Amino acid sequence: ITKAVILVGGPSRGTRFRPLSFKTPKPLFPVAGRPMIYHHIKALSQLGIIKEVLIIGFYEPELFNSFIDSAQNEFGIGIRYLREYQSLGTAGGLYHFRDQILRGSTERFFVMNADVVCSFPLQEMLDSHIRNYEKPKCTILATTVEDSDSAHRFGCLVKNEKNQVMHYVEKPESFLSNLISCGVFLFENTIFQQMKNIKAMKEEKEEAFGLEIDVLRPMAGTGQLYVYEMEHFWNQIKTPGSSVSANRMYLQSYMITCPDLVTKHVESGAEIISPVYIHPSASIHGTAKIGPNVSIGANAVVGRGVRVAESIILENVTLKENSCILNSIVGMDTNVGEWARVEGTPEPAPNRPLTTNGIKVPSITILGGDISVEPEVIIRNCIVLPHKELRNSYHNEILL
Ligand code: GDD
Ligand code: GTP
Repeated sequence: ITKAVILVGGPSRGTRFRPLSFKTPKPLFPVAGRPMIYHHIKALSQLGIIKEVLIIGFYEPELFNSFIDSAQNEFGIGIRYLREYQSLGTAGGLYHFRDQILRGSTERFFVMNADVVCSFPLQEMLDSHIRNYEKPKCTILATTVEDSDSAHRFGCLVKNEKNQVMHYVEKPESFLSNLISCGVFLFENTIFQQMKNIKAMKEEKEEAFGLEIDVLRPMAGTGQLYVYEMEHFWNQIKTPGSSVSANRMYLQSYMITCPDLVTKHVESGAEIISPVYIHPSASIHGTAKIGPNVSIGANAVVGRGVRVAESIILENVTLKENSCILNSIVGMDTNVGEWARVEGTPEPAPNRPLTTNGIKVPSITILGGDISVEPEVIIRNCIVLPHKELRNSYHNEILL
């Protein structure tokens, strides 16, 4: 049988994602109205052959309970959370839980990084893994980054004409290749034998080890490591700004492939510019204008004449009359006053630094949770930590 593992990391990671990950662990942050890893599980369930998904990380398991319950219900596959007692690294976690992965005679299994947005061409990946190759131990999903300057942030690959990986370098200092690993892998169960050998060569006590450097890199050039090059969309979700582009990618894709996951009308008759997701419990005034590329969470209240575009509005947010939200993330329990403007600048490159030479660069505006924005105030290109009252206007600032 075929299984799948999603690597979610833990609370000491994803630091760039604060101030949004204080309450919700980053893998459950909503993108297109659903937790980040919902989209992974949806893609896995569409394969029709996945019996069980294991979520491996070092967060408190309770955080995942209600997500797992509802996803199991929706997709009808087994989902379990397995907790590392400490960060074991991307391969350490897999190796530690190998018995769970192999249980039920698992022949091969997918491994997915949680923090990616992707069209997940898993069937194509599986077909090429099985069809083309003599004896692959692993197939890596790969894509080409256009901007060569950004390739060094990823695992970089050089392949031959048979799609075998000849070189693998994790985050190289100098330019190697535009072909990068998407953080989605398909392994044969024999990989655990290999991991055992690798571990034996390492320090006896050292438990943590990494998939990329310790396992994949040595496999390059041996004929056991292959790439499947994808088209369509892929990106990392490292910064809050990149979750706004991830939101847009999933909404635009679901509008075509899965219209049930987007909202076309609301009862009040508010103007919707597709694609948009609005939680059924949100209340949207009939004169508001929402979209494109907006998601609105549970129990949000959107008032008369409000305008929202290119933004993520989380649960229990109130947007008062004629307020305007553009290129922003509005955290839980936030209140935006009448005629206030909250706006950011779209971020061309995800995963970039917040400041250059100590000066904040224009970015998506983020209002961490429980913020109150007074009427008529303008907040532009700011990052605001939770629990604040904003009585004045601010531009290009980080408000601690
Ligand atoms: N369970 C567990 N335990 N998960 C972990 C651990 C760990 O100790 N460390 C990291 N993760 C999870 C993260 O939550 C994330 O989903 C994934 O593993 C990879 O995270 P990083 O190790 O931070 O790597 P990265 O995201 O910078 O780069 C990886 O992904 C790129 C594509 O997005 C690498 O695989 C690159 O080669 C790849 O290009
Ligand atoms: P941010 O970069 O903080 O947004 O989160 P991220 O999850 O992408 O983590 P990043 O790769 O920047 O690493 C965060 C910290 O974790 C750094 O101090 C790394 O050295 C450390 N780290 C990276 N990989 C591992 C791992 O596999 N295990 C452990 N224990 N630490 C790791």
